[in-house]
Amino acid sequence: MRSILVVNPKGGCGKTTLATNLASYYAVWGVKTALVDFDPQESTLEWLKARPEAYEEIEGYSGLSGTIPLPEDTARVIYDAPARSVIDKVVELMRLTEVVLIPVLPSPIDIRAAAHFVGDLMVRGRLRQSKKLVGVVANRVRENTLIYHELERFLSSLEVPFVTTLRDTQNYVRAAERGVGIFELAPSAVEQDLEQWRPLINWLEGKRVHTR
Ligand SMILES: Nc1ncnc2c1ncn2[C@@H]1O[C@H](COP(=O)(O)OP(=O)(O)OP(=O)(O)O)[C@@H](O)[C@H]1O
Ligand SMILES: [Mg+2]
Repeated sequence: MRSILVVNPKGGCGKTTLATNLASYYAVWGVKTALVDFDPQESTLEWLKARPEAYEEIEGYSGLSGTIPLPEDTARVIYDAPARSVIDKVVELMRLTEVVLIPVLPSPIDIRAAAHFVGDLMVRGRLRQSKKLVGVVANRVRENTLIYHELERFLSSLEVPFVTTLRDTQNYVRAAERGVGIFELAPSAVEQDLEQWRPLINWLEGKRVHTR
């Protein structure tokens, strides 16, 4: 079982969007997937409630109620962390997972917050010593904006890989409303988005799972 934690204490940077779309990707390819929500707001569980029955099933669990009864044949588990998690909590959640994914928005406040967070992770999460796969993702990007170039420079300067850039598009909003991911929308509408996810999927999976 491969497990992925999506985390960044900064609110609204795209943790739930990344977690649910990743789950949608695995679901589309028939990989048995679970979403574990550590957010009292339960956004991923709400997303699952909206999911039409005809779509591939994704198991959902609250991470707040102690042990998580993951079925043994779960192949991928995605943990959605809440906003404002303190570093000790993040380090505790990291123990559950092999992969840590950090979305960051193109805004000065988010860049500064991410600089602190990654710095804290390096020290408290002992990232250099650990074997964890840790990566950052630029989210809600409008290319050719100064702030995006600043974000790109910042993310490239970190000691952890800058995995991909996801554009700002209503495709994520529309998918979220319907309890699906972009992998389950009409391919012609999400061509550019699928392309942007490819480096992330390759980074996570190598060649083990298909990409479109
Ligand atoms: N790439 C994107 N393009 C357009 N809208 C996006 C994108 N990513 C996220 N959003 C929207 O931004 C809002 C915040 O995203 P999301 O809920 O995923 O962030 P979060 O980090 O989980 O927030 P919280 O810290 O509150 O848990 C949502 O309305 C979501 O639909
Ligand atoms: Mg969230």
